[in-house]
Amino acid sequence: MRTILPLNNNWYYKPSFVPEDIVCNEKNTQTQYQQVQIPHTNIQLPYNYFSDKDFCFISCYKKYFELSSDYKNKRVFVDFEGVMGEAKIYLNGNFAGEHKGGYTFFSIEITDFIQWNTQNELTVCVDSTERADIPPFGGQIDYLTFGGIYREVQIRAVNRDYIQNVFVKTKNILSDNCSAELEITLNNTSHLQYELCAKLKDNDIVIAQNKILCAANTKPNILVLDNLQPELWTLNQPKLYSVVCELMLDGKCVDTVCETIGFREAEFKPNGFFLNGERIKLRGLNRHQSFPYMGYAMPKRAQQKDAEILKYELGLNLVRTSHYPQSRHFLNHCDKIGLLVFEEIPGWQYIGDEQWKNQAVEDVKQMILHDRNHPSIILWGVRINESMDDHDLYTRTNQVAHRLDPTRQTGGVRYLTNSEFLEDVYTMNDFIHDNGYGKYLKKVIRDYKTYDNLQGADGEFTALRNPKSVTGQEKDVPYLVTEYCGHMYPTKRFDQEERAVEHSLRHTRVQNASYQNDNISGAIGWCAFDYNTHSDFGSGDKICYHGVMDAFRVPKFAAYAYSSQVSPQEKIVMQPATYWTRGDRSIGGVIPLTIYTNCDKIQVFCGGTLMGTYFPNKEMYGALPHPPIVIDKMEGGWGSKWEDAEFVGYVNEKEVVRRKYMANPVPTFFKVCADSKELSAEDDTWDTTRVVVSITDQADNEMPFFNEPISVSVEGAGELIGTELLSTICGKAVFWVKTNKTKGTMQIKVKTPRTKQLLTEEIIVK
Ligand code: GAL
Repeated sequence: MRTILPLNNNWYYKPSFVPEDIVCNEKNTQTQYQQVQIPHTNIQLPYNYFSDKDFCFISCYKKYFELSSDYKNKRVFVDFEGVMGEAKIYLNGNFAGEHKGGYTFFSIEITDFIQWNTQNELTVCVDSTERADIPPFGGQIDYLTFGGIYREVQIRAVNRDYIQNVFVKTKNILSDNCSAELEITLNNTSHLQYELCAKLKDNDIVIAQNKILCAANTKPNILVLDNLQPELWTLNQPKLYSVVCELMLDGKCVDTVCETIGFREAEFKPNGFFLNGERIKLRGLNRHQSFPYMGYAMPKRAQQKDAEILKYELGLNLVRTSHYPQSRHFLNHCDKIGLLVFEEIPGWQYIGDEQWKNQAVEDVKQMILHDRNHPSIILWGVRINESMDDHDLYTRTNQVAHRLDPTRQTGGVRYLTNSEFLEDVYTMNDFIHDNGYGKYLKKVIRDYKTYDNLQGADGEFTALRNPKSVTGQEKDVPYLVTEYCGHMYPTKRFDQEERAVEHSLRHTRVQNASYQNDNISGAIGWCAFDYNTHSDFGSGDKICYHGVMDAFRVPKFAAYAYSSQVSPQEKIVMQPATYWTRGDRSIGGVIPLTIYTNCDKIQVFCGGTLMGTYFPNKEMYGALPHPPIVIDKMEGGWGSKWEDAEFVGYVNEKEVVRRKYMANPVPTFFKVCADSKELSAEDDTWDTTRVVVSITDQADNEMPFFNEPISVSVEGAGELIGTELLSTICGKAVFWVKTNKTKGTMQIKVKTPRTKQLLTEEIIVK
């Protein structure tokens, strides 16, 4: 049987490497290295304004461990889930293997170098420089890749004969003849004959089972579980099953592998995307996996929380893992909560030489072999994001993808029109929508003579291009918009109201255009969260403010353009896109006022007087499930009295929500709140939660220009990530805390100069 030993605690780390580091006894290591836990970032960075070279160095990680001679007849591997970007692995001074690429899982065999029943020294030399020979590097890229062993590590001891990989293909799920076909790959077994058994389980209940006898080295082995009547995996009820696969030799089970699966059929067609035969308009955002301070190195709970924010807070049904394969915890959670995923290989615009291209093909292989059982994944991205056409390279990536996974379609993200269409789905970054700004530039700044006035031919009137005009194909083909907005209109959470509103409207217009056209399967906006970037991009402070939420996952108005699209049965949303001030916008006032809501109607009161009843604006946004309400007239101008406002939302004539806005806001509520009140000290590694300090006005509304500092201390069973002194941004200061291997309570104390009162939050660590 196989044994898995998580290997995340008590590592040693040094932010440099020389060949002499490969062997060093633990005593000396203790004095020269820092003790760390994996996931680990090679450097904790400030929130912004740092050098984009700060994490680009070679470092050394060490782990000492013992293995009992009970494992002597086994083969032993170290599995790494993600090391940025090249790793060389040594055991007891022997070179065991290396891996290139910071985003894919890899496994290094150490069997031959192990010393049994005594201490072993594992050394990992990690090169986190932006090496031009490894994707995504070689050109410029608009995101930081950070450094270190940033995802979990484990030791895996398996029998000499073992199961290498199990791929479960679900078939005919909409017919009476549903089955699961298991493609089981073994290592080269030494036996002439062996038996494979498989069980399909719903929790502990076995629903189906089967076994086959195989002759040596059949590749792959196919085992079918048929006559199934499973509950389907859907967005609302993402039913999961497990498949347990056993390798039997001489009647004895020598290896077991368990995979989580779901039964669903996902297909992009020229007239849209279909899940289990039902057309679903895809509404998504791109996600970078980075976090303030820690870069990529965040464990399970933070990964899961992101999936929950995307599904429940933003009301999305799809995420694109831009621009690389993401954490197992994130993908597992997407399976669990019913969030569809478009996963793609690492890369950004640049294509390197032959060796680089081979690495990209290898990335396709590693991504698919590792992730192809996730029911949430509906599309593989097999092009370098936004690269030029490359017939040979993309013929190869498509072939590899189709060979390793004939059940899923491929896409490949481009911004090119009429680009060579080698994939199954034309996946297009359509940045056409600029609300007329391009035209304005052409007219006012550039050559006036070239300015054309063609309606519909520019971004003012066009939110999305017609697929036919993009693909250059005679027939309609499956089509998905994979980016829009982003750099076309970067917006900070603390920007002036007009900008924050226009940012949200651009997302709204594009989504409306996507809903209007059945040939567009859906649209994935750029992007979910603000992210750290290189000096070649962003606002100069190393941040791209492209998110509908900031880097702390706090919403901007644009977030409500998405969240308001869910059914009011799921959640009531009513968010006026205003700070409710007389003079933040040009000329003053808050008109036109957009209210993101899934209510049927709202009433607005000013100073207690009913100003009117307003309805969703079907004329402008009629294709959306819930068009926002737009108020374009209201009494009162500059110099008249500014009064409190109240918004009341109704569904089926019943009041369901009420929001008040203050004419004279002052800090009133001081709160500190952790996302999770209970963390675990027993998981395979450290645990974490986000903590939000908020200072709000008398109506508990955010104060967009409140930026006074706060100080934080964390005592007991945990530590603060980041600095103890923080500025609030729009009245919120957000940080993460982590467990420190002890159980008990973690006390968080926050001081703000505005109140004498100490704010506290307690987290139980079990
Ligand atoms: C795209 C690119 C993204 C991001 C975005 C900003 O061209 O694919 O990674 O840079 O622009 O809008």
